[in-house]
Amino acid sequence: MLIKHTLEVDLGERSYPIYIGTELISQAELIGPHIHGQSALVVTNATVAPLYLEPLQQALDNLQIRYDRIILDDGEQFKTLTTVESIIDLLLSNRHDRRTTVIALGGGVIGDVAGFAASIYQRGVNFIQIPTTLLSQVDSSVGGKTGVNHPLGKNMIGAFYQPQCVVADIDTFNTLPARELSAGLAEVIKYGLISDAGFFDWLECNIDALASLDQDLLAQAVLVSCQNKARVVELDEREGGLRAILNLGHTFGHAIETVMGYGNWLHGEAVAAGMVMAIDLSIREGLIDENVRQRGVTLIQRAGLPVTPPENMTVEQYLDAMAIDKKTVAGSIKLILLRALGEAFVSGDYSHEKLLQTLST
Ligand code: NAD
Ligand code: GLY
Repeated sequence: MLIKHTLEVDLGERSYPIYIGTELISQAELIGPHIHGQSALVVTNATVAPLYLEPLQQALDNLQIRYDRIILDDGEQFKTLTTVESIIDLLLSNRHDRRTTVIALGGGVIGDVAGFAASIYQRGVNFIQIPTTLLSQVDSSVGGKTGVNHPLGKNMIGAFYQPQCVVADIDTFNTLPARELSAGLAEVIKYGLISDAGFFDWLECNIDALASLDQDLLAQAVLVSCQNKARVVELDEREGGLRAILNLGHTFGHAIETVMGYGNWLHGEAVAAGMVMAIDLSIREGLIDENVRQRGVTLIQRAGLPVTPPENMTVEQYLDAMAIDKKTVAGSIKLILLRALGEAFVSGDYSHEKLLQTLST
């Protein structure tokens, strides 16, 4: 085992560590202190189980924890209440009590579904995140957002529920398809754009090495991304305001995911195209100049991501899907815009006409 970095998310009594390193999944001493009872349920899927369930089982066996496993179908289309119900069914029928621990082993879909199940089972049981995609290590496993999709909107059902710890084993990237690695890089680039211009510069220098799986650089990228996210979540855990900046490009991106059908555009791909749209609107609003667009588009492209939205999506489809975004209050769609590279803010005060221009380009 090699822990390269440990980072504490400071949320008072809900604080927790993020361990970043290699060969971490099989390490009993890492998750042991975060399992409080004698039982656990591992939630994973049919793709991840053959790759990483065995080392986790080793750790649980060493800890003498009684555990069950549920192996879900793989895919965003299974991020539903029905799947959550199947997890609850298993917890109940195998008599897991309030001291059980739900362990999510997989990407963001598994983390979101398992976390939500943990948050509602007997009004909340222990929860551990073992994220196995870049996207889930830099974003979804950190900060406590859990939930599922509704046919009318992404992530519309859920809860804020913080894990006991996050085990980010970067060895898992070795089996990740290149397209999924790129999708994760979208969220990494997001932190540069919203809050960390220095990190954006660093990414411009290192994006090719990151895409080629340089372990030290990936560990550094996961660390800095989690630091950026933790800083925001610590200030605004339940998204009263500031936390919304973590959603740069997401309102457009969620609309793309919803309209194109869950799973067709990967979340990170939709966010990449959405971030370019947010940059476009920021330029139309006179907030930033063309140089930011050029740098943003170039970096996103170099990460192997789309920089234009789906050709066949209409303005009406965007507006319909965006109207049920969680940032929409009393019919007014809040958007995240940039006032500089590395400085995002929440805006309800943009020109509707300029938004329509962005949506039709
Ligand atoms: P995902 O969970 O669908 O994983 C992507 C694919 O990679 C899946 O097929 C999965 O089975 C596979 N996979 C996972 N780990 C692997 C590995 N190590 N090797 C090979 N294959 C592996 O997608 P994701 O990009 O991890 O997460 C996207 C989800 O996260 C979306 O549902 C999104 O809404 C959610 N999300 C949530 C938050 C949050 O704050 N909770 C933030 C961002 C995104
Ligand atoms: N992914 C956005 C958030 O966690 O707030």
